[in-house]
Amino acid sequence: MNAIPPHPPANDRFAGLDLLASAVLVVDACGLVRHANPAAEHLLEISVKSLSRQKLASLFTNGEELGTLCQQAAAHKYADLRQDLTLHRPAREPLHVHIIVSAAGEAEVVVELRENVQQLKLDREERLLDQSQANKELIRNLAHEIKNPLGGIRGAAQLLELELPDAHLNALREYTQVIIKEADRLQTLVDRLLAPHRRPHIVGDVNIHEVCERVRSLVLAEFPSGLAIRRDYDASIPEFRGDKEQLIQAVLNIVHNAAQALRGRIAEGNAEIVLCTRVARQVTLAKVRYGLALDLHIIDNGPGIAPEIRDRIFYPLVSGREGGSGLGLTLAQTFVQQHMGLIECESRPGLTDFRILIPLP
Ligand SMILES: Nc1ncnc2c1ncn2[C@@H]1O[C@H](COP(=O)(O)OP(=O)(O)OP(=O)(O)O)[C@@H](O)[C@H]1O
Ligand SMILES: [Mg+2]
Repeated sequence: MNAIPPHPPANDRFAGLDLLASAVLVVDACGLVRHANPAAEHLLEISVKSLSRQKLASLFTNGEELGTLCQQAAAHKYADLRQDLTLHRPAREPLHVHIIVSAAGEAEVVVELRENVQQLKLDREERLLDQSQANKELIRNLAHEIKNPLGGIRGAAQLLELELPDAHLNALREYTQVIIKEADRLQTLVDRLLAPHRRPHIVGDVNIHEVCERVRSLVLAEFPSGLAIRRDYDASIPEFRGDKEQLIQAVLNIVHNAAQALRGRIAEGNAEIVLCTRVARQVTLAKVRYGLALDLHIIDNGPGIAPEIRDRIFYPLVSGREGGSGLGLTLAQTFVQQHMGLIECESRPGLTDFRILIPLP
């Protein structure tokens, strides 16, 4: 199936490579691809047929370094060369790979490509951070723009109510009340949008278990039966400098979402949320590496996040819930980022895991 003219016999020699899960290419002395296994085809997103007519280095806009590696490996037979490379391709995402190039027999070179998952993750986090920065700016400006006229609308409706002749009071008052009530609702929304930018950052020593316990009792007070909130604490986690109230709000928003998602199970009496604290070592948050970090998981056994919003839940105004304003997670992420941390999420039916990482001293 993977015959690559004009070297059909090569195919047999390379058949074993096709069974490998990692991407492997065999390149000749001129740098032309002689064989590519299905994993390579998949990683490079090019069919083996088109690969076989090309120089490997020419697939990438910065392929010279890869070309040189292949030449060096061919020249120093049997040595293998390893390197992390970011390979750029026209109109595609760059490929972050760990490359192992080794000479193989007669003027041939085996190139093994392994995706550099850590780099991919860093890239994704960086993009998320940029995006959330842009979001915050947009929200702040928009909220300010809405806030001012809103005050005017509410004030005018109140004045109108005062001016109403008695005969019309009851019927027309209903209308002015609707305006005032809706203006107040919008005002609350705008205040929540502006909250993370306005609230003073009260810094003190934070004990994460005090935060968890506060949230636990608040949520249990709201959902007194059918919901168990289990603790799995690592008591050795040190205190850290931070804003306790902000962190309570962040954790509360996440636990609250979980409780809301668990409505069905709460009715059945088997809903469970787990608050799990651990210490993580050597984590990179917003491009900075920390030796120690708090690793708090909020896990629920609910139906999972709806797939159509899964990638966007941290964006403002994204909600999968009737009556939800879609701000809970945006606020939580902002508060955690103000502690140099990050919230991540994994979800499938039956298990949703929100993970808060915050650097520890
Ligand atoms: N644990 C969870 N299980 C299932 N879905 C969840 C979970 N947590 C969040 N979601 C989904 O993510 C959406 C966004 O959550 P977010 O807290 O930002 O907004 P919201 O809860 O809709 O509104 P609010 O501003 O009142 O919090 C939710 O509407 C819900 O659909
Ligand atoms: Mg919410």
